Amino acid sequence: MKISASIRSLKPSATIAAAAKAKELKNKGVKVYEFTLGEPDFTTPQHIQDAAIAAMKAGHTHYTPSGGIAELKQAICSAYERDHGLQYQPSEVLVSNGAKHSIHNLLTATCEPGDEVIIPTPYWVSYSALVELTGATPVMVDTTEESGFCMSAEQFESAITEKTRLMMLNNPCNPTGAAYPVKALEAIAQVAVERDVLVMSDEIYEKLIYEGSEFRSLPTLREGMWDRTVVVSGVSKAYAMTGWRIGWAMGPAEVIKAMDKLQSQETSNPCSISQYAAIAALNGPQECVEEMRKEFAVRREYVLERLRALPQVTFAEPGGAFYAFFNVAAHFGRPLGGGKVVDNASDFCTALLEEAHVALVTGDAFGAPGYVRLSFATDMETLKAGFDRLEAFLSA
Ligand SMILES: Cc1ncc(COP(=O)(O)O)c(C=O)c1O
Repeated sequence: MKISASIRSLKPSATIAAAAKAKELKNKGVKVYEFTLGEPDFTTPQHIQDAAIAAMKAGHTHYTPSGGIAELKQAICSAYERDHGLQYQPSEVLVSNGAKHSIHNLLTATCEPGDEVIIPTPYWVSYSALVELTGATPVMVDTTEESGFCMSAEQFESAITEKTRLMMLNNPCNPTGAAYPVKALEAIAQVAVERDVLVMSDEIYEKLIYEGSEFRSLPTLREGMWDRTVVVSGVSKAYAMTGWRIGWAMGPAEVIKAMDKLQSQETSNPCSISQYAAIAALNGPQECVEEMRKEFAVRREYVLERLRALPQVTFAEPGGAFYAFFNVAAHFGRPLGGGKVVDNASDFCTALLEEAHVALVTGDAFGAPGYVRLSFATDMETLKAGFDRLEAFLSA
């Protein structure tokens, strides 16, 4: 069987692969302390589940318009007006099967061989892989722990060439948790407007912001930014709805229309029942979002306290999302846990899983060698036991 060259060179998602490895060990009856998955451990709030059941009973079990039902598009527009003062029209919104699908649609609709796409690094695993699928070239801009993993406007500007087609910003960021200060975002927006660069602003973690950080949606920052931004987001993280697969893209109608054309050929429509559930999420009571955020904030404090106590580990405090991203390179070249010497973050994660049964994701997957990612979207008991084991592994 011949597999196409683009799929042969496509790497499988490293986070999904790490979770699968942990699961394999679990299936053998081993208790695994699992910190790989980027999904809230909470159940979808009851009123959202009820709306899905009601939708099924009302017969909403058929195909819908390819880009999503009008009521959901309107609910998305109303939510952005309520939360950010942004005025989008339903024709500027496309609902997809999760934000990941929105990103794929956007890249496929706008990029082709010869184009360059600027990606601040560390980046979310799928960014570079999805850019490569279009034949365009990812241009990585390395950020540092010292800068809180935020790309500066100067770095952005010096990466722009006449081939630049798009810049992919993720704020707050997976894997680093970086939440861009408003001033830094304004400076980036200024460059985008002056140099006329289209920006994808992946804001899927916008509701998960912690004390000391602030979130502003990119198109609000500067005149001229609205028509150069495609906002990508969804219900997965804010409403604990990862399995429902509803995400969206919002931006200039011309781009959205092109993405809709692709989606109509590709998947028809996002799940009808999930679309009704998403309406309930966006239009319904928002207290559940804050309750979950508060719980994440408590876990984040605990994680930071434990990270500070780990030997020779450095990190930048995450201002948003639910990840801790820390550097373990000082431990390379010496025996760890069961006496194994590791030389890189991937081997570190393998040894940690095999010896201590703690599952993290290697920074190599995010373009950040020497780092590992821990998701704190898990209960305190698991966090405590996991950190005890990690500490023992590093100290052995
Ligand atoms: C930065 C970022 N963008 C997009 C997504 C995709 O979310 P979904 O496809 O569940 O809407 C994720 C999920 O982990 C993410 O971390």
